[in-house]
Amino acid sequence: MRMEALSKCLALTDDIFPKVQPHFYTWINRYGKNYLSWSSVRVELVTSDPELVKKLLRNSENFFPKRKLLDIGEKLLGNGLAFIEGEKWAKHRKLADKAFHGERLNNMTPTIIASVETMLEKWKTQESKEIESGEADSFGDDYLGLLVNAYHDWNDKNKLSLEDLVGECKTVYFAGQSILGSLNSWIVLHLAIHGDWQEKARREVIDIFGNQNPLLEGITKLKTMFMIINETLRLYGPINGLPREVAREVQLGKLVLPANIDILVLNSGLHRHPYLWGDDAHLFKPERFSERIAKATNDNATTFAPFGLGSRSCVGMTFAMIETKIVLSMILQRYTITLSPAYVHSPMPIISLVP
Ligand code: HEM
Repeated sequence: MRMEALSKCLALTDDIFPKVQPHFYTWINRYGKNYLSWSSVRVELVTSDPELVKKLLRNSENFFPKRKLLDIGEKLLGNGLAFIEGEKWAKHRKLADKAFHGERLNNMTPTIIASVETMLEKWKTQESKEIESGEADSFGDDYLGLLVNAYHDWNDKNKLSLEDLVGECKTVYFAGQSILGSLNSWIVLHLAIHGDWQEKARREVIDIFGNQNPLLEGITKLKTMFMIINETLRLYGPINGLPREVAREVQLGKLVLPANIDILVLNSGLHRHPYLWGDDAHLFKPERFSERIAKATNDNATTFAPFGLGSRSCVGMTFAMIETKIVLSMILQRYTITLSPAYVHSPMPIISLVP
């Protein structure tokens, strides 16, 4: 079913669920928000039921740990924060929370702007340009700096092994390069298709920043962009399923789950249920987010989970939102985006959802 759906291109529609995840789409329609399926030799509970999802993700640590990565996954993505458990997770998460928070996050803005400038320069000249780097005594206070400092720490309690350091680098590289790249591509596509939203977003950027580089104070004022980003995350969220397993027998709502079965939290399903989002759930309508997210979700935060929920939710969420707003602002200040006549609409779920 999947192979057949993926082999076909789509018309320019946002109703991509039947193509990208045809099995989930068919089985949700046939069996409802919770059903069991077999994934190779393991049974898997697939859920897009907001009530169960809330309980599941809020109890991730005690009852519903992450599944172990397969060897190939570990080689590609690194056994970093997103995949580890227990004390090791708590130690790494503390470091990451520190790096992606407050002042440290603010300090990353000039680096993001510099790297977008390099990208735009490349667009102009089509030539690559090396980013200059300098020698430093300390390792900086961004996430990489904190990781390298921890690697050199004398105290065994804080120390990170070389393997852990490399694992975290792979995880963050994947998140920054693949996931953020995917989101930015889908937003740019939608700005090309919906010229009215592109114009609104550009007007807002010019009103707030003129032709100057974005400043952090202004970034929080980009309301139209906030709406466009969230609607794109709803329909084209790069991460479409959150895999867990059951650590020990547990009651979840009305279900009694035996130990060692798998669970898949289908956030793509949550984002598309017509009973949650209306009959136009499959349409790109950023105005859904014209007020707070709580308003768009009728105060049920579980129905919109592009960054996950609970203690294992995305540590890079604020960074991702800031970076996306800076990238889009700087593009909109310089370019009008149009759709290439050669564009073929064929979203593919290759770890993240890619064009
Ligand atoms: C649009 C961008 C992004 C999206 C949609 C996204 C989505 C997610 C989701 C859904 C999770 C939860 C996974 C689960 O519960 O199984 C997650 C976790 C995580 N994300 Fe992101 N992410 C994004 C960007 C980033 C960036 C830029 C970074 C790092 C710089 C990052 C680092 C992580 C890490 C380390 C975790 C694991 C957290 C933990 O388990 O404690 N993400 N992300």
